[in-house]
Amino acid sequence: MFNIKALETELLARIARAEDLDSLEQIRIFALGKKGRITTAMSNLAGMNMNTRKKTGKALNSLKCLVKNALVARKIALSSAILNNRIVADRVDISLPAPPEMKGRIHPITQTTDEIVTIFAEMGFVVVEGPDIESDYYNFEALNFTPDHPARQDQDTLYLKPDKNGKRKVLRTHTSPVQIRTMEKQSPPIRIIVPGRTFRSDHDATHSPMFHQLEGLVVDKVSHMGHLKGCLIDFCHAFFSIKDLPLRFRPSYFPFTEPSAELDIGCLRIGTEVKIGDYGNWLEILGCGMVHPNVLHNSGINPNKYQGFAFGIGIERVSMLKYGIPDLRPFYESNLRWMRHYGFLSFAQPTIAGGV
Ligand code: DAH
Repeated sequence: MFNIKALETELLARIARAEDLDSLEQIRIFALGKKGRITTAMSNLAGMNMNTRKKTGKALNSLKCLVKNALVARKIALSSAILNNRIVADRVDISLPAPPEMKGRIHPITQTTDEIVTIFAEMGFVVVEGPDIESDYYNFEALNFTPDHPARQDQDTLYLKPDKNGKRKVLRTHTSPVQIRTMEKQSPPIRIIVPGRTFRSDHDATHSPMFHQLEGLVVDKVSHMGHLKGCLIDFCHAFFSIKDLPLRFRPSYFPFTEPSAELDIGCLRIGTEVKIGDYGNWLEILGCGMVHPNVLHNSGINPNKYQGFAFGIGIERVSMLKYGIPDLRPFYESNLRWMRHYGFLSFAQPTIAGGV
């Protein structure tokens, strides 16, 4: 007869060592399968005498019970270990920051303003701001528009209701009033740019009652027309990044500059579309000139000692040209589909190194 005690020790040891459900199943077959050790031993009972059969039968039954229980216990232990391992392996760290979502866009006006500011900042200009609601003095008079000056009619001014003294404030028609406000406060040398909202009573495909300008002002002892031209030519090349971009300074008139000019860039018009380049057509993008001595004088700066130049860029105009935006009106319609098409990703910050 074989040794039941030895079989028990062997089976229990193997069950305890089983590392996965497959090897546990192998042990079950080895002990309790059709041809398993316990099953075979039990079928051998028949050939035994009464006494031995009783004793051996009892011992085999309790061994069978013991092994079955040990198998179940080990199975439970292995299953929960497998589950625990899977839980650890499949864990998602919900404390990790979500990857940045490309939702939302930078409005082309904001982007274009940032680009222009980046270029002039590189040249040493400082950004200054001024109020949207202006007095007649800053918007016109100090800028050498006399009360009956015909040039006032060029700017379709939006007036506020007159105050007790009959004085009407205006929604500033340009950013030029900030020239005066700055010169009153600061003595030369001055080198500022002024991005901001401006207002005129105008509305069609190329005019909006609210639009944006960027003013520039340089005042010191030596600035001359050559500096004005160099500064604006450099700006256009950096901004449009078009090689051999045709530029033309055309004599013009503004009450606050003498001499005055407008800067045109070469373009091609196809219907409402405008393409920039050497195509023989011209489009005005900004006004400029040498600051009029009266304007310096009105701001408390001695025109015999100082001189300077100024310019005013239409932000919508250059934005439409650079980015091929055919109509001005959707700029202010908050249309998400338009924004998704013409807007900029928040990570596309303009830099000089990256080419604005
Ligand atoms: N303020 C002018 C306008 O709105 C633009 C302008 C022209 C600004 C000449 C300037 C300048 O500073 O020198 O039409």
